[in-house]
Formats: sequence, C-alpha cells, structure tokens
Amino acid sequence: MKRDLTSIFDLTKDEIYEIFELTKDLKEKQKKGIEHKLLKDKTLAMVFEKPSLRTRVTFETGMTQLGGHAIYLAPADIQMGKRESVKDVAKNLSRWVDIIMARVFSHSTIKELAENADVPVINGLCDLEHPCQILCDLFTIIEKKGTLEKVTIAFVGDGNNVCNSFIAASARLGFKLHVATPVDYQPNKEYMAQAKNLYWTDKPEAAIRDADVIYTDVWASMGQEAEAELRKRIFRPFQINSELLKNANKKDYVIMHCLPAHRGEEITDEVLDGPHSIVFDQAENRLHIQKGIMVFLCKNS
Ligand code: CP
Ligand code: NVA
Repeated sequence: MKRDLTSIFDLTKDEIYEIFELTKDLKEKQKKGIEHKLLKDKTLAMVFEKPSLRTRVTFETGMTQLGGHAIYLAPADIQMGKRESVKDVAKNLSRWVDIIMARVFSHSTIKELAENADVPVINGLCDLEHPCQILCDLFTIIEKKGTLEKVTIAFVGDGNNVCNSFIAASARLGFKLHVATPVDYQPNKEYMAQAKNLYWTDKPEAAIRDADVIYTDVWASMGQEAEAELRKRIFRPFQINSELLKNANKKDYVIMHCLPAHRGEEITDEVLDGPHSIVFDQAENRLHIQKGIMVFLCKNS
C-alpha cells in the first residue's frame, strides 16, 4: 500500500524516529559530498495554492540532490477545483510522477489528493497542519538538545497549523508541550484531547517559564490577511521579546520560528537575531528532513 504524509498522525513513533535516522545519514552524506542518489530519475510534482520560499526551494533542491527532478506548479497553473477537479489532478499526476507534494488551503484537499493518487502525497502545509515543518523542528531540537525525552517545548502565539502539528507530534512521541494562545485562538480541540503531555494557557510567561525551546509563528497565517490588523491587537501580549524572555528560567533555551517572520509583530529583531535563536539552522533542516521523508515514503510504498 502506498504511504502518504497528510498529517503527523499518518506516522507511528517508530516511523518518525526512522525518518530522523534517515535524515541524519542523508545530511551527513550531503555535508561530506558523498553521493546519495536514492531517488534517481524520480519526479516530484509540487502543487502550490499559496506562496512559499522554504518549502518550494528545499523540496526542489532535495529532489535534485537525490538524483531526481521536481516540477513547480504555481497556483495559476493548475487551479485545483476550478480548472480541474482535485480528483482528476491526482489521477493525472499519478500517471506521470512518483511523488506529489501539495500546499493547499483546506485539509480536505490534501485528503482528496491522497485518496485519489496512486503515488505518495505529502502535505506541504494546509489549514490544519504543517507536518514537514514539525518533523524538521523536532529533528533540529534533537540535534541541539540530544533528545526529545527531557525537553519542554513552548509554542506561543496562534493555535494554527504549525501548533496543531506540534500537538499531534506530542501525542505520538510524548514530549512535554506548553501552548500559550489567546482564549479564542486555541488549537484544534480534537488534537488537544489526544496529547497527554500538553499544558494550555493564555499566559505566555507561564508557558515559557521552564521551557527549553520557545517557538512562535505569525499571528495571521496565509489566507487570514483580512484579520491581520485585528489579530495584531489581540496577540500583542504574546510577542516574543526581551521583556517576556526575562520569565524564562532555563539559561540555554533556544528560540525557534518556522519563518517567514513578521519582525516586530510576533517576534522582535533582537530575539530573532539574538544568541538563543536557531532559526536558520532550523530552516536549513527543511532540506534534509524532506529528503528523509521522500526516501521513507518511496521505500515504503
Ligand atoms: N516555513 C515554511 O513553510 O516556509 P515557506 O512558507 O516559505 O515555505
Ligand atoms: N502558519 C503559517 C506558517 C507558514 C509557514 C501559515 O500558515 O501561513
């Protein structure tokens, strides 16, 4: 049976660690210049309904490094659901390419693609989840802290797709997760119910107090631009700045952000560019983890 990554919940704990091992090996090979063309002559279709820097460049570069090829399909090219049904896009692409990655508005579009495609489908972000991002972030945390077992991760800001994938990962792997959001902007309730090691609060200072990792993301996600001004007012107390960070007890905490950052909104320059920030190591790892994800899915499909 072919495998997909539509959600973190598509993977077991063992499979997540298998992807981390694979990624570590691929990253080492890349750094040492050792050839690793594990997807030689394979083709990846990258379907985008929204903009991207990291996802587009890292999937395309990753595929090249693995000996394959990637095709970028911009929102205007396909117009999924308008020019052609999602189902027909999935069925056509399956006849030509070996993997599909899609960045879409609705999670139901990713599910429909996966159900109708004969090849692995990877969620490159939707309204519910951003699984590639969170696998990258956890891999980065293991690199920096050695383990996930003993760390506490604090997510501060909007209960959005990135936050939901963190919660799903905590449900799968069991690490401690603190989430601070405004009361009306909490993460997905069904996801929250599944994570046993989750502590939710509307007080950012409480969430970061004992955290090893302090993480934030934009207050208005792609597609929510009309709410941006309102959200700026509501989320103001959730900004990661030097004042808030005085509440962090751990000396060696790290600052993470999936990027793009809205500097001066959810995070200040002095924090994003400061000594605790690991955001560009994190961004680099999107490349390595997605190579691991693609190799894992092709191997198991
Ligand atoms: N973090 C992330 O997915 O970045 P892009 O939106 O630039 O792809
Ligand atoms: N939550 C953000 C993540 C961007 C990578 C968004 O959906 O726009």
